[in-house]
Parts: sequence; structure tokens; C-alpha cells
Amino acid sequence: MRHPLFFAIVYALVLIATARTYKSCDSPIYCEGPLLRTVQLSNIFTDSKTFVDRPTAKPVDEVLKAFQQLGITPSVTDIRMFVEENFLEPGMELSQVLIKSNKQPQILERVTDPAYSVWMSDLNQYWSNLTYTFNTTFLCDGCQTSILPTKRPFVVPGGRFREFYYWDSYFVIEGLLYSELNDVAKGMIENFLDFVETYGFLPNGARIYYLNRSQPPFLTRMIKRYLDFVDDEELFTRALPILDTEYEFWMKNTTVEIYDPENDEKHYLNRFNVEYPYPRPEAYYEDWHTAHVDKDMTDQERVDLYSDLATGAETGWDYSSRWLRNKNFNGSSQFELLKSLNTRAIVPVELNSLLYDMEVQLSQWNTGKKKAYYQRRAEQRLHSMDRLLWNDEYSSFYDFNLTSQCQQIEFTPANYFPFWLGAIPERIAKDNKKLLSVFSELEGILKLYPGILTTTLVETGLQWDLPNGWPPLQYVTLHALLNVHKRITENKYTQSLSAQVDSLKTVARDLATRYVESGFCGWWATGGNVPGYLSNRGHTTDTGHMFEKFNVTVIGRSGGGGEYRPQIGFGWTNSIAFWIFANFDDFRAPNCTLVI
Ligand SMILES: *[C@@H]1O[C@H](CO)[C@@H](O)[C@H](O)[C@H]1NC(C)=O
Ligand SMILES: *[C@@H]1O[C@H](CO)[C@@H](O)[C@H](O)[C@H]1NC(C)=O
Ligand SMILES: *[C@@H]1O[C@H](CO)[C@@H](O)[C@H](O)[C@H]1NC(C)=O
Ligand SMILES: *[C@@H]1O[C@H](CO)[C@@H](O)[C@H](O)[C@H]1NC(C)=O
Ligand SMILES: *[C@@H]1O[C@H](CO)[C@@H](O)[C@H](O)[C@H]1NC(C)=O
Ligand SMILES: *[C@@H]1O[C@H](CO)[C@@H](O)[C@H](O)[C@H]1NC(C)=O
Ligand SMILES: *[C@@H]1O[C@H](CO)[C@@H](O)[C@H](O)[C@H]1NC(C)=O
Ligand SMILES: *[C@@H]1O[C@H](CO)[C@@H](O)[C@H](O)[C@H]1NC(C)=O
Repeated sequence: MRHPLFFAIVYALVLIATARTYKSCDSPIYCEGPLLRTVQLSNIFTDSKTFVDRPTAKPVDEVLKAFQQLGITPSVTDIRMFVEENFLEPGMELSQVLIKSNKQPQILERVTDPAYSVWMSDLNQYWSNLTYTFNTTFLCDGCQTSILPTKRPFVVPGGRFREFYYWDSYFVIEGLLYSELNDVAKGMIENFLDFVETYGFLPNGARIYYLNRSQPPFLTRMIKRYLDFVDDEELFTRALPILDTEYEFWMKNTTVEIYDPENDEKHYLNRFNVEYPYPRPEAYYEDWHTAHVDKDMTDQERVDLYSDLATGAETGWDYSSRWLRNKNFNGSSQFELLKSLNTRAIVPVELNSLLYDMEVQLSQWNTGKKKAYYQRRAEQRLHSMDRLLWNDEYSSFYDFNLTSQCQQIEFTPANYFPFWLGAIPERIAKDNKKLLSVFSELEGILKLYPGILTTTLVETGLQWDLPNGWPPLQYVTLHALLNVHKRITENKYTQSLSAQVDSLKTVARDLATRYVESGFCGWWATGGNVPGYLSNRGHTTDTGHMFEKFNVTVIGRSGGGGEYRPQIGFGWTNSIAFWIFANFDDFRAPNCTLVI
């Protein structure tokens, strides 16, 4: 028997499916085609992204003509010369914006330790080093760049990232709000709203080559956070219908149906899903190489692998054991591991939590039929998450593997997203013992290393695995711990549980302490200076930067798998430090000489 709601859903999906077309990557230079393929496969840059970030020096038709003249099999020297003659340097589209920073935002009053105070004041100034606009007045008539134009300034993460990114920006905005740069935060949100209006969805980042995929859907939450700080009816009114569009994109492009034989019912959940049959333009050589290590791969297998690589980038976790079919991490090379990507077959806990949050928010923000629609969607999703992602034996949510039709019982902080975003069935939310057992593993895992919380428990050499710890996942875990603590307190508990309840707070404080120590010592080790407290490290000419990720086995060391970043950064790392100071008191700065 099909529930009448089933028909309502199908009807809604059909409506959506016929409503919208998406803009896609269509440049003859920066998107799939002979020019991109030839230049990128010549491997003349150590990082494929360098080429697609270079604006043309001549009108596009001249560039294409010059490319034709290279013939069918140009030498690497000819290709190098072609690029030098026809392209400018990467990053030229960026103009730094001088923002008027508030030197004494209220948040700094909460930083009582003198050394931390010097550090956080510095971070508060860093926004001006990361705030840019796209300025293409240097481009000749008919020339092209890969940027997606925006009307307002934005904050870039730092390093090789010469544009802004979708999910990074949620965290960046959080920090901007604590630094009282509300206008910059608002401008970033408006840029995103423009993007959804123009492209039909929110691309991964502000480049034409990111038009084939999105990133974890944080826009609704971003707006919610902004509205927590600023009363802005105008932005809210503009955003509402645009958020419907973004929601439709996710439902249309990423929904999967899963049959539940036990209950004889169908569930609709979401997974990341990019169908893209080529190497990613900005990682062309790397992806091509991954798909050609094994000479016996069929064309169809290669096409599938390219889609799973692009989908991996859409998850924000590029790359991780979470998405690998091959679990033999020890005996396999990186290529052999990546070759086994199965990203599209994994129904991730965080994506469904974020969509649940979107449904709840949109039902709260809308009225009438729409309110009821989103409310129903939220209820259905919660029910499906409960059936498919929740594991009562282990008291945890886990990703669902469509290939095996089973949960993947693996530790990752992504499993805590429901406790941050409230995607928990009432039955669990009322059960104190159950809630307490959610974090039973966490304390033990934190005992393994002195640094922040690891991404997974397996070492694969990939960025989103041990020993790397990522700032956003600390933020989510801390929120989850604090929310569960609050919930248990509201539920009221017996004396016999009080030690366990208190330990939630202790663990949260421990993790928060590790975070600020890691950030601070990493900053100091790269030249950050606290006169009279820690002497400057003589061998560096830098003035202190913040890492994108950390090596959890040591306090204050950068994680691996990225490249050296000479620039001040890193957007999300800085922001989460602000959030921590807003939520915890009385930290004491460590003596980094002793811990690093
Ligand atoms: C992604 O790429 C494919 C193949 O080029 C194209 O058909 C599709 O329209 C693209 N999608 C988007 C959203 O750009
Ligand atoms: C950051 O910006 C300030 C002010 O514009 C400048 O003095 C400083 O040199 C910049 N630092 C870096 C590392 O770019
Ligand atoms: C854009 O760049 C041009 C020079 O290329 C400069 O004259 C102009 O001031 C810049 N505009 C902005 C808004 O930064
Ligand atoms: C979304 O789905 C449409 C239709 O199937 C497809 O053309 C488009 O490429 C997809 N967009 C993205 C960003 O994957
Ligand atoms: C999913 O299930 C398949 C089949 O059991 C298994 O081989 C694979 O390792 C699992 N995980 C992923 C990410 O594919
Ligand atoms: C991986 O290899 C190392 C050394 O060869 C061994 O000590 C370890 O137990 C192996 N781990 C797994 C999970 O097989
Ligand atoms: C930090 O430790 C070093 C090495 O033991 C010591 O020389 C220095 O005085 C300590 N600094 C502070 C601020 O405690
Ligand atoms: C992390 O730090 C340890 C030292 O504790 C080091 O052996 C390891 O190579 C580092 N890993 C990465 C990926 O940087």
C-alpha cells in the first residue's frame, strides 16, 4: 500500500524536475575540451589548478587560433610557450578590499589570558588580509577568466584558494559576525543568493569549473546565524524564495529511494551526487592519472570514477576512507585507494542532517501550505534517518551504504551532525541513558592523541583521515556535546547519572582547550609573536598563520596532504577560535616551546 504522501512527493518532484535548467561549465578554455585536455595532460604545473586560474592575455578567439596552430601533437615546450604567451598570472582578478575592522569587538573582552589576547587581536585583524573583490578591469576586450562574477566583497579561505567556497563560508561568516563585520558577512550571503538565482544552485566555489557540483548545503544555516546577530528583515524576505530553489536542487539531484524490507516502506534520503564524465578541470592531471593507473579499466569504469571523484569534492571531504570501497588501507597505494571511490553510493549522516535543518528552518520561516510541506518533509526525513542511519546497539548514527544496503560502522565526527542540528527522534531525545552513550567512544579516542579530534580512525594518507583533524568537525562535535548536555539537563536526571552528565562538559572543555592551543601554537610556530611571553621563532620570516587542518598527534602542527601556504589564513580555523571564546571561559595559553 502506498501512502498518499508518496504521490504528493512524486508530484512535487515532477514539478521541480520540469521547472529548472542549470547553467554549466561551457568555456572552451576552462571547461572540458581539447585545449584544457592538452594543457593539463602536459603536466606543466605541479598543481592543475594553476592553469584554470590564469586569465587569458588575449581575446578568446585568438587564444583558440593559437592553440589550433600547435597541431595535434605539440611538444611540452610548445605547450609551455603557448600558455606563457596567451595567459596571465593566476590571482590577478583579486583586489584586496580595505575593510574598516573594529579593533575592539566585544568578543575580545572574553579573552582574558594576555597571550591569547595578543593572538586573538591579531586574528581579528586578519580579515582584511583575506577580503577581496573580483576586479577584471585589467582584462582585454574578448578576454576571459574563470571567475564567477560577484557584486560584493568576500573572504577567501587563504593559500591556493583564490576564490570563495560554499561550506567554508558558513564558518567564515560565523567569525566575521564575532568580529562585528556584519556588512561583510551580509555581502557574502547576498553573493550566494545571487549565485542561486543565476545558476539554479550553489556551486562549490566562485569559478566556472565549479559549476558542475555543489558542497554541503549550509546556506540556510548561514542565514540563520546572521539573523541571530542582525535584525535584517530585508535580507530575510529576499532569501526565502531563493532557499526554496536551493532545496529543490538538492531534492532533485541527490535523492535516493531506499526500500526497507522490515517495515515494507520506502525511504527518501540524500547523497552527494555529481554526474560528470571527465577529470575535474582544476585537478585534471591528478584525476586522469588516477583513472589510468590501472590499464585494464574500461571506459565506463573511468567515467564512473570521474563522477565519484567530482562527488568526493562535493562532499567537502576530498578524500576520505569514508568513500572508499577498498578497505585494505595498508597494502594499497593512494591511486589504488582512490580508484575504489564509491562516493555516490554513500548516504551521509551530515548531508541528511543539513537537509533536515533546512526543512525545519524553512517550515519555521514560511506560512500556510509551504510551512506544512516543509514540516512534513522534516518529519519524513527524521523517520527515515531513524530507520536507516540510527544504530541503537551502538547509540550512533552511521552512513548508509547503498551497495551493501547496510550501515558503515565507522567512527567519524560526521556522525555527530544530528546532535548539532537537532535531527534526533523524540524517543532518543528523551532517553538520558541513550544520549549519554552517544559519546561513549569520544573520551577514549581523545586519549589516543594530545591534539584535536581526528577525522577517522584509519590512516590512508588521504586528507580526511587520521592523523588530520579539521576545524569544522571540532565545531560540530562541540555543539553536539553542549546540546546533548543541555537536553539532558532539561529532561532532568537522577543523581546516579550526574558524574556522566558532568563529563560531557569536561570533554567539551578538553576539546575546546586543545583547539585553541593547537591554533595558538601553530600560529606561534609560523612567526606569531607575543612579546614578553614566548620569544619569536627566529628562523621564520612569516608573521604567524593559522592552519587549514591540524596533525592531531602533536599540538600546533599542520595536517598533511596540502601544500605550504605562505598566506595568512585560514578562514574557518580563525572563525572557530572566535566561537570557542564565545562559549568557554578562562583558558590559559600554553608554553608552546614545551608542547610542539
Ligand atoms: C555537468 O557536466 C555535464 C557534462 O559536461 C553537463 O551535461 C551538465 O550539464 C553539467 N552540469 C552542470 C550543473 O553544470
Ligand atoms: C595584512 O594586511 C595588513 C594591512 O593591509 C598588512 O600590513 C600586512 O602586511 C598583511 N599581512 C600579510 C601577511 O599579508
Ligand atoms: C580595479 O583594478 C584597477 C586597475 O587594474 C584599479 O584602477 C581599480 O581601482 C580597481 N578597482 C577596485 C574596485 O579595486
Ligand atoms: C542536476 O541534475 C540535472 C538534471 O539531471 C543535471 O543536468 C545537472 O548537471 C545536475 N547538476 C549538478 C550540479 O550536478
Ligand atoms: C559498501 O559496501 C560494499 C559492498 O559490501 C563494500 O565493498 C564497500 O567497502 C562498502 N563501502 C563503500 C564506501 O563502498
Ligand atoms: C598495517 O601494517 C602495519 C605494518 O606493516 C601493521 O603493524 C598493522 O597492523 C597493519 N594494520 C592493519 C589494519 O592491517
Ligand atoms: C617555556 O618553556 C621554556 C623551556 O622550558 C622556558 O625556557 C620558558 O621560560 C617557558 N616560558 C614560559 C612563558 O613559561
Ligand atoms: C603527524 O605528526 C607525526 C609526529 O607525531 C609525524 O610522524 C607524522 O608524519 C605527521 N603526519 C602528517 C600527515 O603530517
